[in-house]
Amino acid sequence: MNDVLSWVNHIALAVPDLNTAAARYRESFAATVSEPQPLPDHGVTVAFVTIANTKIELLEPLGDKSPLASFLAKNPDGGMHHICYEVENIIAARDRLMAAGARVLGSGEPTIGAHGKPVLFLHPKDFFGTLIELEEIN
Ligand code: CO
Repeated sequence: MNDVLSWVNHIALAVPDLNTAAARYRESFAATVSEPQPLPDHGVTVAFVTIANTKIELLEPLGDKSPLASFLAKNPDGGMHHICYEVENIIAARDRLMAAGARVLGSGEPTIGAHGKPVLFLHPKDFFGTLIELEEIN
């Protein structure tokens, strides 16, 4: 198996109102949706929709400097925000991607994501307009 691209951990959707989005998924799809979880370090509140082979991450802005603010200004109804791939070793994956010319957002060092695991984000301009998150799973 490819050591960088193996499993999709989640697909993230930016939404203007998390409670409305969670209720819509519960009512329309009879989905199981987790309780909202604020992540102040990431400027988002998150809830996860459980699907057999992956998760949908519903993201609402949190605080003044939310990275979602500009996205929702351009997409006021919400939209697909990022896709998260699982990696076994996030530092090795980062170094390999950077050697191939990809840019890592922020300091370049992993931060702790919604599942308590290290995450990094790759510049969407390097991947055809899609923001990519890497999450270390081991
Ligand atoms: Co994510």
